[in-house]
Amino acid sequence: MPERLAICPGSFDPLTNGHVAIMRRGLALFDRILVAVTINLKKTPLFTAEERMEMVRGSFPDDPRIEVAQLDGLLAAYARDKGAVAILRGLRAPSDFEYELQMAQMNRHLYRDLDTVFLASDADGSYVSSSLVKEVARLGGYVDDMVPAHVAAALHQKLRAGA
Ligand code: PNS
Repeated sequence: MPERLAICPGSFDPLTNGHVAIMRRGLALFDRILVAVTINLKKTPLFTAEERMEMVRGSFPDDPRIEVAQLDGLLAAYARDKGAVAILRGLRAPSDFEYELQMAQMNRHLYRDLDTVFLASDADGSYVSSSLVKEVARLGGYVDDMVPAHVAAALHQKLRAGA
């Protein structure tokens, strides 16, 4: 049987527990997951691409089934190059669906063999997003239960440095 590779793309600025849970659950469905960290974000990221990649590596330090790479171009072309069978994404709420459906359809239009697999996030973290984590942290709110410990440390350090 050929290996079944899924690509889990995102900006991960920063990585949240919800992202980690989707990746972990994805490992039950696919042989390997390539986490593709986008470089060109619409907004300037708080963390560099290398810092965001390190957040993923730090969450799966001993699992060779999780790889991390930078994504600098078109996801559909990247997925074709890598031989991926699917894009893996989490859905937190119905409001995510419109954007996610549009991307899934566009990606399949660009590369007919590429399916998107959506995993429903656990309900207890469905209000958590990277943007809100940053906003709450900047305003002094507690976010350490929403992100992995090494991400919380990186976030506090970044904000202390005046970012
Ligand atoms: O975590 P995000 O920011 O919601 O992830 C969005 C992402 C990375 C999935 C999307 O922006 C993307 O696929 N970017 C790569 C460039 C691309 O292929 N754009 C067309 C998408 S249909």
